[in-house]
Amino acid sequence: MRQFEVRNAHFDRLFNTPGLMWLGQNTNHFPTHPSVARAMADCIAGEEFHAYAPPAGFEALRHGIVADLGLDGASALVTDGAVEALYLACHAFGAPGSTFVTTDPGWKWPMHFARAAGATIVEIPIYGPEHDFRLSPARLEAAVDERTRIIYLVDPNNPLGVCYTEAEIRAFTDIARRAGAYFIHDCTYRHFADSHTLAATFYPERTITIYSFSKWLGLAGLRVGALVASPEIIEQLAAAPPNNLGSNVLSQRAALAGLAVKDEWMPEINRRQRRNQAAIHAAVATVPGMTIPVYPSQANFLVVECIDAGITPEALCEAYRASGIMIRQGTYHTPAFGHRFVKVSTTVPEGWADAFCAELPQMVERARGITAPGPLF
Ligand SMILES: Cc1ncc(COP(=O)(O)O)c(C=O)c1O
Repeated sequence: MRQFEVRNAHFDRLFNTPGLMWLGQNTNHFPTHPSVARAMADCIAGEEFHAYAPPAGFEALRHGIVADLGLDGASALVTDGAVEALYLACHAFGAPGSTFVTTDPGWKWPMHFARAAGATIVEIPIYGPEHDFRLSPARLEAAVDERTRIIYLVDPNNPLGVCYTEAEIRAFTDIARRAGAYFIHDCTYRHFADSHTLAATFYPERTITIYSFSKWLGLAGLRVGALVASPEIIEQLAAAPPNNLGSNVLSQRAALAGLAVKDEWMPEINRRQRRNQAAIHAAVATVPGMTIPVYPSQANFLVVECIDAGITPEALCEAYRASGIMIRQGTYHTPAFGHRFVKVSTTVPEGWADAFCAELPQMVERARGITAPGPLF
């Protein structure tokens, strides 16, 4: 079987595992807000989906996304998830001979997109206490030169959960401006942070803000997100997007309903996911050698270091998988540091987080006996 077939079969198996506890993909498994569920039911009952949505998204949704970000004067292009927004930006601005600068760890797919467009990838290692698990302006400055076309910052960082300060964002955008580079600010996890600064505030002319409904609203399987930038940039990108026939109508209706209840929804979601973070933090502290390097996480997941506990991330993932719990191996994010950690998502029912915690000592012991886990993706 080809690699993509093996990968697909792996995720198909997971998706079709009854009762699987999804603690591996930062998805949000809290029950849907009733008005979001109602908006979808109404959309289906009204058979709205026979028509294509407007190519850049429903106007109300485009305006709602810009308003949620508070970026007056910016324009939104609704996409089939944040990932399509990233694909579009990386292909539009990544070019042969240019560099694409990002952190290690970070989210790997945009690197693949930029590489496919011909760009050379420059990764700045940020894993480790010597870096405080974050990018510094000085290290970004050292990596950026006149060839740099794209700086890609995941903020809050996936998988680390660090979030950058206003001063850091200001410094990063100054560097981007001096280089004339596009600043792709991936804000997929923004709504989980105690506070968050948008790069577009300081560098509106070339910042591309990436927006997702997958995580804060729990619509991952519905595929809806957005790319927000100056009207000039949107004009350029809207000329040849991968999907010019409008994003999923049902998903957009759900997203609109979500924005309308966001102020009521998010405080409770964050209270619950921070409660889960605390439970996992306490459980990890009881296992010799296991640690959580960034706590609390400003996103909806935690990195759990297992290397000093003498087990591999893959073995621990396999032990949990056999017990109906999906967690993610670090190598999904980073070949350089991935052997050190697993990632555990926290926007899940408390019972799932507690099951992870209760089983942890036993899973660590079981992982010691797993020497050849199957392929993970
Ligand atoms: C940093 C980052 N950006 C984008 C995405 C994709 O988001 P979406 O589901 O909206 O395509 C993810 C998904 O895990 C992510 O971690």
